[in-house]
Amino acid sequence: MDEKRDNKMPGHVAIIMDGNGRWAKRKGLPRTLGHNAGVETLKEIVKYSDEIGIKILTVYAFSTENWNRPKEEVDYLIKYLLIEFLRKEIDELHKNNVTIKMLGDIEHIPSLTKNEINKAISLTRNNTGLKFNIALNYGGRGELVNALKDITKKVILGDINVESINEELISKHLYTAGDEDPDLIIRTGGEKRISNFLIWQSIYSELYFTDILWPDFKKECFADAISDYKNRSRRFGSLKDGGRIC
Ligand code: FPP
Repeated sequence: MDEKRDNKMPGHVAIIMDGNGRWAKRKGLPRTLGHNAGVETLKEIVKYSDEIGIKILTVYAFSTENWNRPKEEVDYLIKYLLIEFLRKEIDELHKNNVTIKMLGDIEHIPSLTKNEINKAISLTRNNTGLKFNIALNYGGRGELVNALKDITKKVILGDINVESINEELISKHLYTAGDEDPDLIIRTGGEKRISNFLIWQSIYSELYFTDILWPDFKKECFADAISDYKNRSRRFGSLKDGGRIC
């Protein structure tokens, strides 16, 4: 894959796929059809990410706060759309050497969905191409709480001592363990917030907000976001540009 990359290409892109509901409403359709259209966009973006040499693509499919939506919508997303997506797309993803990983509390989702997810994870486990992370039943604060619990247990058992707790150790206890932090976080749908997404990992991520609703965010829009990113100056707190103020 590396020969496809130019050196300014973001390694890890994360996306908050917002706007499915409004897209449907504008067309006089039920929200569920907005989510269907969202899946079509997602397929296009996964394929394109692989083609342009992105190493990790993380998408926010369902947050821990999304359980507060009407039951029919939650069921549609968790018990129908995700299963359908995995069943229909898994062979193609596997053929394209994509690895699927879930970020989030997968233990507490319905068992049919969990089975499908586990099948996809084990089938693609040894692939070496694009890493496709789906954040499901995910919340950034919850992720940190879990990491804290795991680390505390290890301290109590004497497996690690308090002095060895550092940023690297915490990162290793997150769902994203082993992944580089996101270089670029895109949010579609016009809102300008992070909504509990990758809060530990995003400290130096470049943020890109667009009014385009997720179902309309086609690969050309993604290419615009990447090209905007490539023109940014990333300093990670240093003064790489010589400290210019204008
Ligand atoms: C936010 O739009 C979108 C979601 C909560 C779900 C995102 C899910 C998908 C794109 C498809 C499912 C994903 C997989 C992996 C199968 P919204 O409904 O909040 O839109 P609104 O802000 O316009 O109401």
